[in-house]
Amino acid sequence: MNDFYDELAPLYHLIYPDWNASIRQQGDSLSRLIEAEWPGHRKVLDVSCGIGTQTLALAGLGYAVTASDLSANEIERARHEARLRGLDIDFSVGDMRKAHEQHGTGFDIVMSCDNSMPHLQTDDDLLAAFRQMTACLRPGGGCVVSVRDYAKEERGTNLVKHYGARVENGKRHVLFQVWDFTGEHYDLGFFFVTEDLSTHKVDTRVMRSRYYAVSTTRLCELMREAGLENVRRIEGTFFQPVLVGTRPSQPSQL
Ligand SMILES: C[S@@+](CC[C@H](N)C(=O)[O-])C[C@H]1O[C@@H](n2cnc3c(N)ncnc32)[C@H](O)[C@@H]1O
Repeated sequence: MNDFYDELAPLYHLIYPDWNASIRQQGDSLSRLIEAEWPGHRKVLDVSCGIGTQTLALAGLGYAVTASDLSANEIERARHEARLRGLDIDFSVGDMRKAHEQHGTGFDIVMSCDNSMPHLQTDDDLLAAFRQMTACLRPGGGCVVSVRDYAKEERGTNLVKHYGARVENGKRHVLFQVWDFTGEHYDLGFFFVTEDLSTHKVDTRVMRSRYYAVSTTRLCELMREAGLENVRRIEGTFFQPVLVGTRPSQPSQL
């Protein structure tokens, strides 16, 4: 999995037709959601920031952002992108299953966006991550998770997902994924077919990973088990379903 994102780091923005526009849109959506759910909460921890899509967005809107990710190459690129934009963000490499050990507590918001959680392969790992994320929050703080809605995804093998073509620096990149399900897990090949537009020489790269097609219902159950309250799925505010939960203000009486 680590190799997947380490290799993807220089190309990751190509997933989006216009990464900067997506940064702005995602930042506006997340900021509206945070203001609606937890008004005034500004101190954010992103535990799977990647190259920084949501982290750069929220930092650009004035949030105080701390961000980590398992992939060292993505963190290096995220640091570079923050420097380009004049943003001061505390980046580090880390596993979300150890988020509290790494970052401590006191955050207003902890987030993991764009389908990062399903990289964890078991319910035990997901629960461990949610427990650590919850411990990072101050009482009353909010957890924000966005994921793909796997209830809407076909199961099978040889499933091709097209991302389109992007032209950049004299090269055309055609992107697609191929999914092969085994039970509720699937192996994914992410293909980048790159054509040099002056020589027409073609080069193909494929990066491989494995996902757990966990349902949003199961994720909500695990968030509750991790100690979050008022857990629910929110539709229509972000490009993916968003799961939210709040760390109780008072310690549980259980
Ligand atoms: C689809 S990317 C999303 C990245 C970022 N949120 C964005 O939208 O640009 C998923 C990210 O999850 C990270 N990831 C996967 N497993 C992780 C773990 N156990 N701890 C921290 N990050 C992890 C990957 O390295 C990758 O950057």
